[in-house]
Amino acid sequence: MSTTIETILSRRSVREYTDEPVSEKDINTILDCARWAPSGLNNQPWKFIVIQDENTIKDLAQCTHYSTIVLGSKLLIAVYLDNSEMYHHDKDVMAIGASIQNMLLACVELGLGSVWLGEILKQAEKVNSILEVPEIYELMAVIAIGKPVKKERTSSRKSVSELTFKNKFDNKWTGSN
Ligand SMILES: Cc1cc2nc3c(=O)[nH]c(=O)nc-3n(C[C@H](O)[C@H](O)[C@H](O)COP(=O)(O)O)c2cc1C
Repeated sequence: MSTTIETILSRRSVREYTDEPVSEKDINTILDCARWAPSGLNNQPWKFIVIQDENTIKDLAQCTHYSTIVLGSKLLIAVYLDNSEMYHHDKDVMAIGASIQNMLLACVELGLGSVWLGEILKQAEKVNSILEVPEIYELMAVIAIGKPVKKERTSSRKSVSELTFKNKFDNKWTGSN
């Protein structure tokens, strides 16, 4: 088993999946990791919809520019903010982000590939209607998951020194200062 740091650093968005289904056990592990994310006042403002039904996946594919990813996935998890549990919108949204990241990292550990889909929020109303979600819930993301097609995946990041300051905002963090 890899360390948490190795898992974080090796995670890449995976957008192509094999036809192999994701097991119920793995789905439950992913959901368990999601619910153990931190949240303000421990209010756990999230709700998840596990989607495996092929027709529902096809319908959801119509709601995004990234239809090929959705159609190719064996499992989608729609993530909702439960406005009845909300205490501070920004903090609750951040907690949901933490729960989503937990799921992405769990996928790495389980040998699954996943990608966080945000563009689909443009058609949130259509998604809510397909999934028959009451108005009190706000769509935050859809995660596409599956066994990854083997291929090299690269990504890039800004350097730490571009992003970080030491003590005051005019003093860049260089890693050695
Ligand atoms: C809020 C958010 C929304 C995203 N929406 C999409 C999306 O709609 N479609 C997609 O293919 N990837 C989406 N991504 C994945 C990013 O493109 C990806 O994380 C980024 O390019 C860095 O690549 P990496 O995850 O492989 O390191 C999203 C990621 C985040 C955090």
